[in-house]
Amino acid sequence: MSAPRFAGASAIVTGGGSGIGAAIGKALVEAGAHVVLGDLDEQAAKAVAAELAGPGTARGVALDVTDAAAVRRLVEEVAAQHGGLDLMFNNAGIFIGGETEQISPAQWNAIIDVNIRGVVHGVTAAYPLMIQQGRGHIVNTASMGGLMAAGLLTGYAMTKHAVVGLSLALRSEAAAHGVAVTAICPAAVDTPILDKGAIGRFHGRDYFLKGQGVRRPLAPDVLARRTLDAVAEGRALLVTPRAAHIAWLIGRLAPGLVQRMSIRFVARQRSMQAARAALPQENP
Ligand SMILES: NC(=O)c1ccc[n+]([C@@H]2O[C@H](COP(=O)([O-])OP(=O)(O)OC[C@H]3O[C@@H](n4cnc5c(N)ncnc54)[C@H](O)[C@@H]3O)[C@@H](O)[C@H]2O)c1
Repeated sequence: MSAPRFAGASAIVTGGGSGIGAAIGKALVEAGAHVVLGDLDEQAAKAVAAELAGPGTARGVALDVTDAAAVRRLVEEVAAQHGGLDLMFNNAGIFIGGETEQISPAQWNAIIDVNIRGVVHGVTAAYPLMIQQGRGHIVNTASMGGLMAAGLLTGYAMTKHAVVGLSLALRSEAAAHGVAVTAICPAAVDTPILDKGAIGRFHGRDYFLKGQGVRRPLAPDVLARRTLDAVAEGRALLVTPRAAHIAWLIGRLAPGLVQRMSIRFVARQRSMQAARAALPQENP
């Protein structure tokens, strides 16, 4: 029997206490890796780690990716324990959606701190070490929102475009050092984030599912499997599912068309929000 795909590899997954991070952790452990799940929600990270079954191993730790020193300490600790760090998944992220004029300065700062600075902290901690090792792979969780800029997602789209830009630029520098970089750009994935970060009348599930005509969001385990495939293949970008990949290609060929569709999409969203607001409260 052949060894599991990531047998003995050491990995850190930020935001590993929920959703995509938890699913990536599970897939890595099943593939033989030794994984540390870091999350602001320490209990969630520990609970996810406790559920995972080998051949690899998992542990959950408290981690705030906005704290550069904490991210560095975790990278150093994992590298010391395992003789290096093979895989760094900068995955922790938050979401905000709604009318741009309603986003507060604190909300702008929070999304920049977690989604951009959090990834920068992971890169600045792991990349120099990986250069020294002459090996390693950095995987940044961006989003379709990092490739296509739909209205009512300005803050989120801005941060995810930054993650795509950072990842692709770094990838060209890192290749000569034996270090690979991948950005993952999924469309809607069925995780708790879809119900978080709504500003005003915004409604995440309506926006991503009804509004975009997606029948069902991607299952986190499916995305995790595709992510590990993309890592094993050393791909620059993972754009998934197929419909999202096609939409992205069309957007590159006909940006004007996509911009016009986006204006209509926002109008449709606003009428859906108005209709929802007119309904009696679900839980008075
Ligand atoms: N679910 C989707 O539809 C979707 C699509 C594309 C990209 N993404 C991206 O995937 C990533 C994971 O999101 P998810 O869908 O699994 O959401 P989620 O809310 O289920 O999980 C996010 C995790 O990140 C943690 N976190 C938040 N702030 C943190 C911080 N400062 N430090 C450490 N951990 C922190 C949360 O506690 C949570 O456990 C995010 O970057 C998100 O933007 C999600």
